[in-house]
Amino acid sequence: ASKDFVPHNLEVQVPGRVFLVTGGNSGTGKATALEIAKRDKQLLTHVSTEPHVHLVCRDQAGAEDARGEIIRESGNQNIFLHIVDLSDPKKIWKFVENFKQEHKLHVLINNAGCMVNKRELTEDGLEKNFATNTLVNTRSVYILTTGLIPVPEKEHDPRVITVSSGGMLVQKLNTDDLHFDGTMVYAQNKRQQVVLMERWAQGHPAIHFSSMHPGWADTPGVRQAMPGFHARFRDRLRSETQGTDPVLWLALSSAAAAQPSSRFFQDRKPVSTHLSLTRMSSSPAEEEKLIEILEQPAQTFK
Ligand SMILES: NC(=O)c1ccc[n+]([C@@H]2O[C@H](COP(=O)([O-])OP(=O)(O)OC[C@H]3O[C@@H](n4cnc5c(N)ncnc54)[C@H](OP(=O)(O)O)[C@@H]3O)[C@@H](O)[C@H]2O)c1
Repeated sequence: ASKDFVPHNLEVQVPGRVFLVTGGNSGTGKATALEIAKRDKQLLTHVSTEPHVHLVCRDQAGAEDARGEIIRESGNQNIFLHIVDLSDPKKIWKFVENFKQEHKLHVLINNAGCMVNKRELTEDGLEKNFATNTLVNTRSVYILTTGLIPVPEKEHDPRVITVSSGGMLVQKLNTDDLHFDGTMVYAQNKRQQVVLMERWAQGHPAIHFSSMHPGWADTPGVRQAMPGFHARFRDRLRSETQGTDPVLWLALSSAAAAQPSSRFFQDRKPVSTHLSLTRMSSSPAEEEKLIEILEQPAQTFK
């Protein structure tokens, strides 16, 4: 795919722009944060020319290591860490409120994701793979994005990007509870993310929303959640850095901003959110129901 790329699309400087990357301590999230932090390296004559990158991570020690590595490799000191467990709606709201008061934001990158496959129950009796996958992949994106939207909305060239997955192509939006199969729940959550981006794009025309598939990349997440897939295809997977290209292009390039908002991208190209010959599109009523399902509990935890 890279044969068709316009190389200078990513040769951009983003002085003073503020980025937030969830899951910025691992896999494609860390590689994305590093690549953004490196932008403007040639302008290091004055600290204010560098982009600011906020990492939202759950594990303090691992996140501090990642932050240190990003600072060392990029030479950019403006890397900030926020410890938030994205499966905890209360903690996300608290983070949103603090962040809004203290920081600007131009580009939100909803990258964190998980695929929990073990069948366990939470303390509330919810199936853990359903609860955890959905809390991290869909509810956290919902709360973080609805909460933070007013911040980039005030800025020039604001963008929201969600790292979805091509896996969502096998799922039609389903607002009934899904159980048992972590892979199916994951794909459903990734479908929900794409629908959310489309809905937000309608309500917030000043912001450029997009979702994307990073390509299959060799990350800790893939190694852990899909060991069989990883063992079979390891030689053909993208590196973490290669997996960042789609998100970097959406976050940085003016070519991406020139595309209509709300599209789903693969390798710098908008592609259909539905496989041909399948009936995966959802009705406005089904999409409205998704918002209702997310909105009411989200407010409960505010
Ligand atoms: N790699 C691929 O081929 C591929 C393909 C399609 C889509 N994706 C998507 O790409 C994104 C990045 O995944 P990856 O492959 O880079 O996997 P990864 O290395 O496992 O990264 C996932 C990130 O999400 C964070 N995260 C998970 N649960 C969290 C929580 N409760 N609170 C805060 N952070 C949490 C992880 O933190 P910890 O390190 O603390 O666990 C980690 O930083 C995900 O959304 C994934 O679904 C990846």
